[in-house]
Amino acid sequence: MSELSENAKKVIEEHLDRYPNKQAVTLPALHIVQEERGCVSNKAMQEIAEILNLSSAQIHDTMSFYGFFRTEKDPLGKVRVWICRSLPCMLRGGEELLAELCDRWGIQPGETTADGSVTLELAECLGACDGAPCMLLNDELSLCVTADDVQRISRGNA
Ligand code: FES
Repeated sequence: MSELSENAKKVIEEHLDRYPNKQAVTLPALHIVQEERGCVSNKAMQEIAEILNLSSAQIHDTMSFYGFFRTEKDPLGKVRVWICRSLPCMLRGGEELLAELCDRWGIQPGETTADGSVTLELAECLGACDGAPCMLLNDELSLCVTADDVQRISRGNA
């Protein structure tokens, strides 16, 4: 049975015409699969490799170069919360915010809550320093957040 959904295969194949060569579709393909499944399994890497006429090792090399992608041993939670750790955010409460979230959720940055609802990550400057401390929930930016805000927003999306 295929690991990639028919939709994921279709969307990856639609990218082929937009890039100069198949290898250039590796990153978009990894994003498509992770978006759908919360990780990129070994089997999914193999199937991406087949679509792109590459080896699994080439897909694995690209995937492991970026800390963004998760394997099947360490999948993402339902939502991915990125807390900005750059200086302006840290000086405006980000440090305490992060400590509070780690405490409430019983995890450290890079980890996922036991119920699989939230993965906590550290981000570099999100480009919204005037709204420090900032967070991204998946792709959505929130400014001047408290731990209660983060908890409420992440629960609403999980
Ligand atoms: S330092 Fe956090 S958004 Fe710039």
